[in-house]
Amino acid sequence: MPLDHYHDEHQKREYQNDERLKARKGLFSLGAVDIKGKIYERITSDTEQILDVGCGNGDLLIYLKKKGFRGRLIGVDFNPGMLKPGIEESEREGLNIEFYEGSAEDLKFPSNTFDMVIAKHTDVLDMEDYI
Ligand SMILES: C[S@@+](CC[C@H](N)C(=O)[O-])C[C@H]1O[C@@H](n2cnc3c(N)ncnc32)[C@H](O)[C@@H]1O
Repeated sequence: MPLDHYHDEHQKREYQNDERLKARKGLFSLGAVDIKGKIYERITSDTEQILDVGCGNGDLLIYLKKKGFRGRLIGVDFNPGMLKPGIEESEREGLNIEFYEGSAEDLKFPSNTFDMVIAKHTDVLDMEDYI
């Protein structure tokens, strides 16, 4: 499904009436939620490979690494300018995080590759197939 179509459908669903808009606004007035901490808490001893789609500057992956996650961390984003700081920090600090330029709609990973797939603040399609 082309992204534009998906985006339009998504927006129609999200803003179908005033109730939905109020609910959505409520989400943003909950106060600070430690999303990265919550994600870290979901890691178990069985978590070996984590994919972050639309990873931006890689701050979540860097956070997970610095918190002590020792498995494989992969970030994908279709904007090379967004990836650059994460790549540089990973190299500079020897974090060994893999960053790839690519679209969420055309991921090259086989099914069942990852134990956790994250798309934080990123409008992307269903990622379940990659888990
Ligand atoms: C709002 S930023 C969030 C970045 C990061 N996940 C975070 O939480 O800080 C959205 C990111 O998703 C990326 N993005 C959006 N759609 C994408 C797609 N279809 N494929 C790959 N990256 C995408 C953008 O380039 C951007 O870096």
